[in-house]
Amino acid sequence: MAEIFRLGREQVEALAATYGTPFLVISLEQVKENYAMMKNALRDVNIYYAVKSNPHDRIVQTLAQLGSCFDVASDGEMLQLARLGISPEKIVYANPVKTRNGLLTAQKTGVSKFTFDSEKEIEKIAEYVPGGKVLLRIRIDATNALIDLNKKFGADPQEAIRLLFAAKNKGLDPAGLCFHVGSQTTEVAPFIEAIKVCAGLFDQARQAGFNLRILDIGGGYPAPTRTLEVDVPAMGREIRAALDEYFPRTEIWAEPGRVICGTVANLVTRVIGETERDGQRWYFLDEGLYGTFSGLIFDHQDYELETFKFDARKVPATFAGPSCDSLDVIVKDRETPVLEVDDLVLVPICGAYTSASATTFNGFALAKTVIWEDVKDALPSAKQKEHV
Ligand SMILES: Cc1ncc(COP(=O)(O)O)c(C=O)c1O
Repeated sequence: MAEIFRLGREQVEALAATYGTPFLVISLEQVKENYAMMKNALRDVNIYYAVKSNPHDRIVQTLAQLGSCFDVASDGEMLQLARLGISPEKIVYANPVKTRNGLLTAQKTGVSKFTFDSEKEIEKIAEYVPGGKVLLRIRIDATNALIDLNKKFGADPQEAIRLLFAAKNKGLDPAGLCFHVGSQTTEVAPFIEAIKVCAGLFDQARQAGFNLRILDIGGGYPAPTRTLEVDVPAMGREIRAALDEYFPRTEIWAEPGRVICGTVANLVTRVIGETERDGQRWYFLDEGLYGTFSGLIFDHQDYELETFKFDARKVPATFAGPSCDSLDVIVKDRETPVLEVDDLVLVPICGAYTSASATTFNGFALAKTVIWEDVKDALPSAKQKEHV
């Protein structure tokens, strides 16, 4: 049973009185715990935190202090890391299809590690960063991920040797292979399958004269949800055992995002309106689909809404966001205690792919962020952790 960061009622009320809703509270201690959990489970694996999942400066700085490396998707993320003083040596530009602006930024900031999955990309990388170190991303079929990235990315394994030669012929350093089983993968089998596929390709590459040195096993490790418990340490141990068997002497990287940042944030929002439509109660919140709840659309998530009301009587309700768009509905038919305007709602496990994709549509400001460790000593000392 993992423990996760979860505010208590008194803390939520005190913080809401100080900061006004909506706001996110991020626990850096939880960031550290999640990083340590991955390090322990995957043992000797270099962690490249996927910045896209939650790029908050304080999360990135906390991980940097722990020795983490970083996976970036764009020029913007490279510039952020440069601003924070993170060495380009610690960065892999792991978007298989890069913009010219991204490559120019890599050149200027000194980033020289890349992933690719097509021939055109090789020419682009070689033009901007001659001699760059490249990992070929392999497509992994039959994953059971909630978000299957293999529908968009990854070279057919049968194309691997040809693409490695193409990279070498353009003067790049084909250093290894990578894959991403897809985000929120709850079973270990796709990782094991991917490791076996890559082991076969490493053999073929050796016979073809390559010296592949790195295997990047990507991201995809799950975070718990409203309805799902996960045992990431157990998954990590099985993955590590497969790596020990198939890649005992290879440098291993991983690019976790969600598992590091998913449980680190709690959202606090407030009921701003209430009505009845088609026989169902509707509650309007001051945060919605265009804000932190953007993960409903982009990340297919289903969030817990804790109301701090312990009334046994529950009613089915629709929760909607504050914008004028009818798409801005968070959940329908959710059994909930009866609420009033101004009641506070807590949304735990709200750190991954939430604020990262929030917008200011309709003129609503992004939810403020409060760092828990900066404010906690001034707050009521209610229970901070709960078992999930
Ligand atoms: C290339 C790459 N690496 C890592 C990640 C992080 O994945 P996750 O948050 O599932 O660990 C992503 C997510 O989209 C990705 O595209």
